[in-house]
Amino acid sequence: MLTWTLLVLFLGLLYWLSRKPSSLPPGRWGLPIIGYIPLYTSDVRKIISDLREKYGDIFTWKVGSHVMVFFCDYELIKTTFNRPECQGRPSLFSFSLIRFHENAGILYAVGDVWVQGRRFALKHLKDFGMGKSSLEGAIQYEAQNLVGTFERTSGKPIEISWCLNVAVLNVIWKLVANIRYDTDDQEIIKFNTILRNNIDLVQGRLQILDAFPYLVKMLPRFVLDKVFKVKVVYDNMEKFKNLMLEIIETHVKTLDPNNPKDYIDAYLIQIQKERGNLSTMSKEDYFDLVITLDDFFGAGSETTSSTIRWLIALLATHPEIQTKMQKEIDEVVPRDTLPSLQDKDRLPYTEAVILEVMRYASFIPIGIMHATTEEIQVGKYRLPKNTAIFASARSCHRNQKYFERPEEFYPEHFLDKEGKVIMKKEGFLPFSLGRRQCLGESLARMELFIFATSLFQRFTASPPKGGSISLEPDCFQPLLSFIPPYEVVLTKRT
Ligand code: HEM
Repeated sequence: MLTWTLLVLFLGLLYWLSRKPSSLPPGRWGLPIIGYIPLYTSDVRKIISDLREKYGDIFTWKVGSHVMVFFCDYELIKTTFNRPECQGRPSLFSFSLIRFHENAGILYAVGDVWVQGRRFALKHLKDFGMGKSSLEGAIQYEAQNLVGTFERTSGKPIEISWCLNVAVLNVIWKLVANIRYDTDDQEIIKFNTILRNNIDLVQGRLQILDAFPYLVKMLPRFVLDKVFKVKVVYDNMEKFKNLMLEIIETHVKTLDPNNPKDYIDAYLIQIQKERGNLSTMSKEDYFDLVITLDDFFGAGSETTSSTIRWLIALLATHPEIQTKMQKEIDEVVPRDTLPSLQDKDRLPYTEAVILEVMRYASFIPIGIMHATTEEIQVGKYRLPKNTAIFASARSCHRNQKYFERPEEFYPEHFLDKEGKVIMKKEGFLPFSLGRRQCLGESLARMELFIFATSLFQRFTASPPKGGSISLEPDCFQPLLSFIPPYEVVLTKRT
């Protein structure tokens, strides 16, 4: 009897101690230790949409010991994600593992390391052509190659796979290391496998360790490696690091301080200025550069190539939109000329299609998690320091307040009454907002424009005969909305 009484008292105390603080927004707190883990679906998009319907535009969701606050209203996101106290990243096991447990690079860096790294990267990526016509030639070259590859399979069902990733990776390689790979080069095949493998693993079971971080200390090493693939992620990062160190070494040997060729050169010149000599370059300097490069490839490759996969699928399944876009391209760009950024102003419908693809796909549906670096007040709620906060782009993108037909693919969302593109559309945030807004946005916009116009100037996309293309994102990849692999026929236009 006494044992039962003690047990009940213990459970009551545990419940009382771990109840949701009233200062947090309403939401699902769930059970002590476990939090709230919905059993009815594994699709995070559906869970967020259900919780929003129930609790409103700002709500709390606790999983394990991980307290998350979601912002689903555009105005609220704009004011909150611009605040200096909202620019941290949570200290999650997965984030930390892919950074060898150091504060380095940009994407997951915090504090001064992030501020300095971001400032340096923005300046020097612009110097090497990000958002400018000087990089356009490299993107057009990749687009032309892609067109050549698709010409060989014209009229046959294909999966848009590998060659698209190489084209996008090559643009980043050009910027950072002035290197280009052919599609069948084993080095780039290995490289992409490492990148993609880590993206998949970080979205997979590793999230259990993020939610229940004490498991990392409790579980034996072999369980962490076997079940959560911790060693695979770590080894992938080691391979990436070693490849980058080799490339950096070659740059050190051939550096001409008066004639920087790429981002790595710019970084080395900066170190030389600060330290007087490259031979005094520390392990930390090398490491920070390696992690920054990983950020560029990690953040800039799958995002762009998956958006193009969405574009092809959406146009193949909406032939009337495809025809209208092709007609506009034909009127502006002669068929034997490569589309260029100078054509952009005369291709409003095409630009609206690209923006609508980003809205419809919402490739990063809940953004990349930020964390509060101080306690903050948001309306009547108080969020403690280190609360994980999310800007739910998809909630804004599917809100009728901003988009007339939120569930449809409808490029007119981005056109005004005169048929001009609405560049700054309320409710639209595929690159997030505020001080941590995507650093590669202007590069991504250039790439999407050149690839989209080059492909649809030359090809018409359609589903294979008797087949269909599903536009339902892969629900097992909760943080990124990948379109499931599909077959499409690209037929050369005559
Ligand atoms: C369609 C393509 C792309 C999309 C949809 C996209 C989207 C995003 C989003 C939503 C964030 C999170 C911002 C935040 O934390 O609030 C981000 C961050 C970032 N992106 Fe992109 N991105 C794209 C392409 C690129 C490219 C081409 C690069 C190339 C360098 C890049 C580099 C970065 C970096 C370095 C960050 C981290 C910024 C920081 O933490 O300060 N992205 N991106």
